[in-house]
Amino acid sequence: MVSHLLLGALAIGIPYAVLGQSFSLPFRKVQTHGQTVLPPTKTHHRGVAQIGEIDEEGFWFTNFTVGASNELVMLVDTGSCDVYLNPGLYEPSKNSVNENDNFTITFETTNPDGSGTLTIDGPIYKDVVSLDNTLLSIAQMPLGVVTVPLSPPTFPNDGLVGFSGVSQSAINSSSWFQHLCEEGQLQECRFGIAYQTDDTGMQYFGYVDEERFEGPLSVSPVPSEGEWSTYMDVAYDGEVLLKDQLMWTDSGTTVMFGPLEGVQAFFDAAGIQSVLHPSTTADVPTTLDGYFSCSNPPTLGFGIPSISNASAASRDPHSPVSHMSTIFNVLPSQLVQNSTGDNCTASIHGTDEWPFWLIGQVFFQGKYIDHNHDDETMGFAELRSP
Ligand SMILES: *[C@@H]1O[C@H](CO)[C@@H](O)[C@H](O)[C@H]1NC(C)=O
Ligand SMILES: *[C@@H]1O[C@H](CO)[C@@H](O)[C@H](O)[C@H]1NC(C)=O
Ligand SMILES: *[C@@H]1O[C@H](CO)[C@@H](O)[C@H](O)[C@H]1NC(C)=O
Ligand SMILES: *[C@@H]1O[C@H](CO)[C@@H](O)[C@H](O)[C@H]1NC(C)=O
Ligand SMILES: *[C@@H]1O[C@H](CO)[C@@H](O)[C@H](O)[C@H]1NC(C)=O
Ligand SMILES: *[C@@H]1O[C@H](CO)[C@@H](O)[C@H](O)[C@H]1NC(C)=O
Repeated sequence: MVSHLLLGALAIGIPYAVLGQSFSLPFRKVQTHGQTVLPPTKTHHRGVAQIGEIDEEGFWFTNFTVGASNELVMLVDTGSCDVYLNPGLYEPSKNSVNENDNFTITFETTNPDGSGTLTIDGPIYKDVVSLDNTLLSIAQMPLGVVTVPLSPPTFPNDGLVGFSGVSQSAINSSSWFQHLCEEGQLQECRFGIAYQTDDTGMQYFGYVDEERFEGPLSVSPVPSEGEWSTYMDVAYDGEVLLKDQLMWTDSGTTVMFGPLEGVQAFFDAAGIQSVLHPSTTADVPTTLDGYFSCSNPPTLGFGIPSISNASAASRDPHSPVSHMSTIFNVLPSQLVQNSTGDNCTASIHGTDEWPFWLIGQVFFQGKYIDHNHDDETMGFAELRSP
């Protein structure tokens, strides 16, 4: 089912046929409104662009102009790179160039039992892509127009705009955000995301809004070609359980996944009841779910930067990485995926589908997350209470 797509295209590195990954688990229902804020630069007035309403699956959307259509409601996805429009929505502007080429991208399945795959394809164009109510605009942005399947539409609302590195691209193009940087439209090549617990949020382009969070950002290295991933230590109740874990962050994934062994270690430490669902067929991976008493939620945290990365940075005067590791806990309300009475399902699941932790927006909630391409770092901080 399309509504169960998790949008995190992951690095495979085969141009024109990138395996996107997704996982079929029910989402929490969140109603969200947001805003986009621009930096106070010489070239831009401080502008505020409204992010449209999020749909019930908890994804974040903002309004873009693509080609001749404005007010398209596009999913903001930090886990993939390209711009895709759902079938039937592309209206070429006078800038339009038909690239005479096609894209193919495959998402791992969408069926409730986790089986199957969804492959989308269609022609590639270049056309104007702008963030509505701002001056941020790329005149000739490569974009994919989904023609297969025609229905149901692949993405909720009108399409998707990716913010990750070019290694995730199925059309061999850097992201719309990266194009802004290359054209000098941003003061600094970075963007920040601040999702609040009251289901509102902001995205910041070209600067960091220091007013929004407590203390300095905890700055962590991004491995090369690894946007937007970093290293962390997994902690239960403030104590580190597992060190030096690779974590991919993804605003287009709602929940969190980790390797079976790592998630089992956390469930065991936290006294969480774990239920293993062994693989039934080759395309249905083994998964591990956790259940806990809703009245006594456990505390899962990630130490960022990892203790190893922090101590390496303290020996390197040129490193932008923080010298101390800070543990950022998943808010207790966000560790609950759903509940029946006092039986809460954890929003973190085990799978060996990926050799890293895939950390979706339940972790983003209540935090400021800076995505700094200039320094190849990510910065984390707790949002200041409004
Ligand atoms: C975003 O687009 C939707 C759908 O076209 C429209 O209803 C909404 O008013 C737009 N929001 C803004 C802030 O322009
Ligand atoms: C793109 O796909 C269309 C429709 O399947 C096909 O007619 C066309 O030849 C393809 N173009 C290229 C360059 O592969
Ligand atoms: C991808 O784009 C880069 C530069 O934009 C180019 O050098 C490279 O050949 C392209 N790769 C493919 C497979 O088209
Ligand atoms: C961070 O830690 C990882 C895992 O131990 C290591 O591979 C990487 O080189 C470290 N990076 C920096 C900048 O210290
Ligand atoms: C959470 O939802 C899933 C799917 O709807 C269901 O299988 C599971 O039993 C639920 N868990 C609880 C604790 O209600
Ligand atoms: C919680 O719900 C799950 C899924 O229905 C079930 O497997 C588990 O045994 C339940 N745990 C408790 C303590 O009731």
